[in-house]
Amino acid sequence: MAMRSHYCGLVTEALLGQTVTLSGWVNRRRDHGGVIFIDLRDREGYVQVVCDPDRAEMFKTAEEVRNEYCVQVKGVVRARPSGTTNDKLKSGQIEVLCHELNVLNPSVTPPFQIDEENLSETTRLTHRVLDLRRPYMQNNLMLRYKVAMEVRKFLDANGFVDIETPMLTKSTPEGARDYLVPSRVHDGQFFALPQSPQLFKQLLMVAGFDRYYQITKCFRDEDLRADRQPEFTQIDIETSFMEEQDIRDMFQGMIKTVFQNTLGVDLGEFPVMTYQDAAFRFGSDKPDLRVKLEFTELTDVMKDVEFKVFSGAANMKNGRVVALRVPGGAKEGAGLSRGEIDAYTEFVKIYGAKGLAWVKVNDLSKGREGLQSPIIKNIHDAALNETLQRTGAQDGDLIFFGADKEKIVNDAIGALRIKIGHSEFGKKNGLFEDRWAPLWVVDFPMFEYDEDNQRWNSVHHPFTSPKDGHEDWMVTAPEKCISKGYDMVLNGWEMGGGSVRIHRADVQQKVFDALKISPEEAKEKFGFLLDALQYGAPPHGGLAFGLDRIVTLMTGAESIRDVIAFPKTQRAQCLLTQAPSPVDEKQLRELHIRLRNPDAVKTTAGA
Ligand code: AMO
Ligand code: AMP
Repeated sequence: MAMRSHYCGLVTEALLGQTVTLSGWVNRRRDHGGVIFIDLRDREGYVQVVCDPDRAEMFKTAEEVRNEYCVQVKGVVRARPSGTTNDKLKSGQIEVLCHELNVLNPSVTPPFQIDEENLSETTRLTHRVLDLRRPYMQNNLMLRYKVAMEVRKFLDANGFVDIETPMLTKSTPEGARDYLVPSRVHDGQFFALPQSPQLFKQLLMVAGFDRYYQITKCFRDEDLRADRQPEFTQIDIETSFMEEQDIRDMFQGMIKTVFQNTLGVDLGEFPVMTYQDAAFRFGSDKPDLRVKLEFTELTDVMKDVEFKVFSGAANMKNGRVVALRVPGGAKEGAGLSRGEIDAYTEFVKIYGAKGLAWVKVNDLSKGREGLQSPIIKNIHDAALNETLQRTGAQDGDLIFFGADKEKIVNDAIGALRIKIGHSEFGKKNGLFEDRWAPLWVVDFPMFEYDEDNQRWNSVHHPFTSPKDGHEDWMVTAPEKCISKGYDMVLNGWEMGGGSVRIHRADVQQKVFDALKISPEEAKEKFGFLLDALQYGAPPHGGLAFGLDRIVTLMTGAESIRDVIAFPKTQRAQCLLTQAPSPVDEKQLRELHIRLRNPDAVKTTAGA
């Protein structure tokens, strides 16, 4: 006799009158004086089991079972009495009349009820196994699996082959800190865990594999946020003999197929926006296009105003002044309160802004009298009128201003834009459109200037190709140089990114020159790639998607941690296994390591 004939959650009217064998967990046991109901749960959902006292032995067992016992039920499927059906469950029209109940394994009392809401994340991650029993987490991980399967199907159908690349390797230049692994065999030497398979996938192109993919772990020791984990999963892809546009078309097709086949969602055509446009209009290289607010450029307007905050920024190198018009923000009774404006002023300071100037547009017909603002007395008529013109201000609008270095303005007002768009106020006033908003961001600059270290850095990674004809600017005018890099953005999250690569050693050398990477350093770090590029390397390019992020967006989860079975906390710890943890002195000695803080060594072996 099989241990199970059906999944609990899949018992429906189709099985009326049939005997079924179910195995699962007791979600709840309800004693209705005389009759005991058990909500039995497995990965497919719940079913209601009815235990009548006329079968004494079975009923005795039913009285003893408790939450989270693993049990087996044999019984007959019957219709629920009218008035007790549950349309939310697949099995909501039926119940199983229990003939036999076997406890497969009892459970100690769980620290929380499995269907309890509002558990703290610490509780959830500490008792992750029980947390994973919850339908929410089961659904998330099932969806994750389906997404990965759809990706594999698509790539397989397009001739991509899955090839593994090493985990113990050399540092790859994705710009984060490495996780290092000490070598026992080589005193004082370390492997780095890969930040991505970037260099290996390029080598596979030189090796002639033509179309590669891998769904693989990447490791980055960086500050963690809701959309970041220290180890995360990339859908990593590389292809030879495809141009930028062809690559984008193909992988837009892949993401569309995945959404269609898992969620039944048609993402439509993806708009394409240049990096410059995105920064100009939204202050971000991953704009959330669901938010219907845009920057208004005022740098040229504010050069000669008396208000020093504005004129100072307008005249400084890399300075910028923008406005963000919030329709309805000054409406009597329905707009933003003084308290909210103050809170937003504090909010933008997180991004380095020094303040948040504003104008309430009460009545345009009254000229200055109709405006309310702490700053306009120091802004002359021409600049004020131009501001109202360009923003398209209407009575009842609130206009915010940012003035500072371009980066600060973009970050601060960009974040404010998102914050207002997603707020209750934004949703009530039609500033947020509830839809899927994908786009490509293209034409990234090759380099960005690092003021602190007075040098140019790569915006993507140093193997990204410049646009045709921009090669020589890399050394003469790095700021003008545009790359063949692209990012795919969805709802304000960077889902994936990549580029056409450099396949010629001489062009690669120019990038290193621009980045002030000496030939010795280049040879030491990437010698194997430079060497390979000399043997008839094919033109190639690719991209990588963050699988965790895609699934997070699909589920609407708040955090990437909700789509990873065993994630790390914001402080990069695993609360379940208590990793990282101290190790024995003996292990350290074998690895040729002495700790700077001797107290950190584990004192008793195995403790
Ligand atoms: P990139 O660094 O943009 O590109 O990474 C690709 C995608 O991986 C996801 N991602 C992350 N997800 C979770 N936690 C993290 N810490 C994290 N970091 C990145 C993002 C991102 O878009 N080798 C290149 C790709 C290429 O050029 O082909 C690369 O790694 O969704
Ligand atoms: P202050 O001149 O410092 O009293 O500021 C007058 C107004 O300008 C206040 O509303 C500040 O919040 C705002 N403000 C100050 N600095 C900036 C800035 N860099 N960008 C935008 N607004 C600012």
